[in-house]
Amino acid sequence: MKILLLGGGGREHAFAWKISQSPLCKKLYIAPGNAGTATCGENVALDIEDNGALHNFIVAHAIGMVVVGPEAPLVNGVWNYLHKMPGTSHVAVIGPSMQGARLEGSKSYAKRFMAEFGIPAASYREFVAAKPDDAVNYIRKKARVPIVLKADGLAAGKGVVICQDKETAVAELQDMLGGKFGEASRKVVIEEFLSGIEFSVFVLTDGESYKILPVAKDYKRIGERDTGPNTGGMGAVSPPPFVNEVMMKKVEERIIRPTIRGLKKRGIEYQGFIFIGLISVDGEPFVIEYNVRMGDPETEVVLPRLKNDLVELFIAVKERRLAGVTIETDERAAATIILASGGYPGGYPKGKTITGLGTAGDSIVFHAGTKNSGGKLLTNGGRVLAVTSLGKTFRDAIAISNKNAAAIEFEGKYFRGDIGFDL
Ligand SMILES: Nc1ncnc2c1ncn2[C@@H]1O[C@H](COP(=O)(O)OP(=O)(O)O)[C@@H](O)[C@H]1O
Ligand SMILES: [Mg+2]
Repeated sequence: MKILLLGGGGREHAFAWKISQSPLCKKLYIAPGNAGTATCGENVALDIEDNGALHNFIVAHAIGMVVVGPEAPLVNGVWNYLHKMPGTSHVAVIGPSMQGARLEGSKSYAKRFMAEFGIPAASYREFVAAKPDDAVNYIRKKARVPIVLKADGLAAGKGVVICQDKETAVAELQDMLGGKFGEASRKVVIEEFLSGIEFSVFVLTDGESYKILPVAKDYKRIGERDTGPNTGGMGAVSPPPFVNEVMMKKVEERIIRPTIRGLKKRGIEYQGFIFIGLISVDGEPFVIEYNVRMGDPETEVVLPRLKNDLVELFIAVKERRLAGVTIETDERAAATIILASGGYPGGYPKGKTITGLGTAGDSIVFHAGTKNSGGKLLTNGGRVLAVTSLGKTFRDAIAISNKNAAAIEFEGKYFRGDIGFDL
């Protein structure tokens, strides 16, 4: 089968690495990819949010399967478009329909979904730009601090603001409803603040049945000991040791099953990954958010622990045979450490020469923001590389990644040396 993978970050290099190991994959294209994915298949310059361009490419190259890395093409309806168009209606698209993608594309939609299907989550209210006074009154009279404000739509990971006092919250809310995040914040969800430790559960579903993939925890802050601004993610560990069988039983019964049931009940076509962002509050799991794709950098620790042939799994998803599949997991722990460009998550330079990859042989180095130019490997993004290692324990894995993160060089390189500090 010929496969087209959409995206160009560390998550996509991990997907490309895993897909290219499958004898079922005859040819892999990655759009747009990076210098790492180019070692697993052929990078193609396609606009992944242009459904027409994707359709043309898929037909011209007889692609049988499309694996969607990031959320944007899903929210943009790539599933629906390919499904209805002649020549691509048979193609397996790993990712939900536009309706399913609303679980990530609209916080308000996700909150309503969870409320309807009895899925534990923070209590909430929602407000719209047309009635800002309702929201201000709610904050001044009813809300309890800290106050969690969430832009309804996609806001590049910046749409959630946690305010420690009411007046800050009022000011922030007015900015949001006033269009701070464009259309995405014309509606705002105000949530109860939950206090606990976060982790991520990844589910693969064929719309009928589901399989739970290895659990992970990521580190979002730029600074050590979880300080400073949020990033796309600076590292991850799988499995997080505090997520035990008792917790996973609660997650499966209270959250995963009702989620799948809810999708079916609403008639939503969903054949792909569900990323459930969870928080453990005194040992009880609550959903923080849904994402409709795998996480980055969590994919870089989840896929190296998955023993199954990923293409075989995807075909089972397409044919709705997932119930008959057994997920096999490497018992070892995995950790990944992100090497970032100096300045990230603010402004940063690109085009710095990367050296020392050859010495990182006991890690798997996934590329995130890299490109080849004139025979050299150059930085090409804020997050540059993800250094993944496997070890008997997560501490062993982290130690190997730390050693190799130190040995790889590029000007301005930054990484957190404390991944796993809280475990
Ligand atoms: N109700 C809540 N209580 C406490 N912290 C929250 C709550 N909702 C979100 N957060 C924090 O904000 C982060 C981002 O929120 P999330 O809903 O995952 O938005 P997104 O990833 O789309 O920016 C979460 O990872 C969590 O740390
Ligand atoms: Mg999140």
